[in-house]
Amino acid sequence: MRRYVMLLGLLLVFPLTASGDYREEFEQGFLTKTWSGQQPEENFCIECHSSDKMKPEFLTLAEEWKASWHAQNGIACHDCHGGDPKDSSMSMSPHRGFVGKPSPAEVPEFCGKCHIGILKNYLESGNGKALRSTGKGPHCEVCHGSHNVQRANIDIINEQRCTKCHSYERAKVMKQALFLVEKKAGEIEDGIKALRRAGVYPEEQERSLFNTQAEFRTLFHTVDVNLVNERTDEFTRKLGAIEKDIQGTFIELRSQKNFSAFLMALFSIMGGVLFLIIRTPDK
Ligand code: HEC
Ligand code: HEC
Ligand code: HEC
Ligand code: HEC
Ligand code: HEC
Repeated sequence: MRRYVMLLGLLLVFPLTASGDYREEFEQGFLTKTWSGQQPEENFCIECHSSDKMKPEFLTLAEEWKASWHAQNGIACHDCHGGDPKDSSMSMSPHRGFVGKPSPAEVPEFCGKCHIGILKNYLESGNGKALRSTGKGPHCEVCHGSHNVQRANIDIINEQRCTKCHSYERAKVMKQALFLVEKKAGEIEDGIKALRRAGVYPEEQERSLFNTQAEFRTLFHTVDVNLVNERTDEFTRKLGAIEKDIQGTFIELRSQKNFSAFLMALFSIMGGVLFLIIRTPDK
């Protein structure tokens, strides 16, 4: 009899205390498996350009590309340069869409065929207009490189790079404004991670954080100091709303925890009482 009572108590208490971030672990485990992605195919651009037939100064470029964020995201030579990676004799033929090497003035459109929102902001910017009118503005490659493109962040804005052509004053003001938004976004990300660890999946907040960040990160390319200041205020407000949501979830979670602690205490008292009832010999 006593055993049944304890079992009953366990069954009632267990679902309240069970928490699982197994889902997160599963997703990570699954996504890092080689068989979940595409198999690498034969690619003649990479093969020939990595072979010892290639000019030494061109060899490093294939190596750089292999370590780039583009390579990790499946963007290969022909995605930028055109051509046919599956036909070694015709691969660099214009008939197969090969466009070759862009001139500095052509770089923005060359990169911007995929990064459309950024191209738009860039072309309307002081940097973009200067490239068009006098050829003196920086194109994408000056700040990001071409074959060695890595994930972008505000550290790209630094005195060494930006003072090649003008003073650092305006750049500094922009960097400060962007830094504050980035910091807040980082804090929210930490909050979301903590919720996930507690077994809660705030999908809606995650989505709005992602969208806000994506929109925010094209802003820099306007290099318009007033606009950046104005819009970073707007982004700070948006992030503030997401942060409030997350805090609300934390408070809810805490009161749920208090409630399950209360239930657990209740069950153990009940268990104890039942135990005493069972132990008390019948007269
Ligand atoms: C069979 C070997 C081979 C293959 C395959 C090949 N390339 Fe090349 N590629 C070369 C050589 C050699 C050069 C250097 C030509 C020179 O400088 O005269 C070159 C030059 C280039 C250039 C510079 C052209 C310029 O305008 O200066 C680009 C860009 C390029 N290749 C991209 C590609 C892409 C993209 C592919 C696949 C679609 C590809 N290559 C496939 C051998 C190859
Ligand atoms: C993200 C777009 C992008 C990708 C991917 C890319 N390239 Fe390029 N490539 C460029 C740009 C922009 C230039 C012109 C500026 C420069 O030389 O860096 C260029 C220039 C070149 C040149 C001429 C270099 C010179 O000094 O004249 C060669 C050769 C070349 N690419 C080959 C390749 C090969 C081979 C791959 C794949 C392993 C590749 N590229 C992948 C953007 C790209
Ligand atoms: C004057 C320097 C500069 C130039 C020129 C420039 N960028 Fe950027 N780019 C940056 C900086 C700085 C960031 C990071 C901004 C941030 O994190 O808020 C960035 C971010 C990015 C990102 C990441 C945005 C995201 O959504 O995650 C991409 C993609 C990008 N740039 C592409 C381009 C392309 C394409 C061009 C040319 C049309 C270009 N950039 C020209 C400095 C530059
Ligand atoms: C064929 C489409 C394509 C072309 C052309 C292209 N990119 Fe990209 N780029 C991508 C994809 C896909 C990613 C990875 C997804 C992402 O991070 O947004 C990426 C990522 C990036 C990032 C990192 C964004 C981040 O999240 O921080 C930068 C910076 C960037 N590209 C710059 C360039 C530059 C500079 C060029 C031209 C030399 C270029 N791209 C040409 C498709 C392209
Ligand atoms: C290759 C040269 C060059 C580089 C490198 C460069 N710029 Fe510029 N930039 C220009 C030119 C030219 C102008 C237009 C004339 C001016 O306003 O000084 C300009 C204008 C600007 C403006 C004023 C835009 C406006 O609408 O008033 C800002 C802000 C700016 N750049 C920021 C940056 C930042 C930040 C960096 C570094 C990440 C940078 N620039 C790197 C050449 C460059």
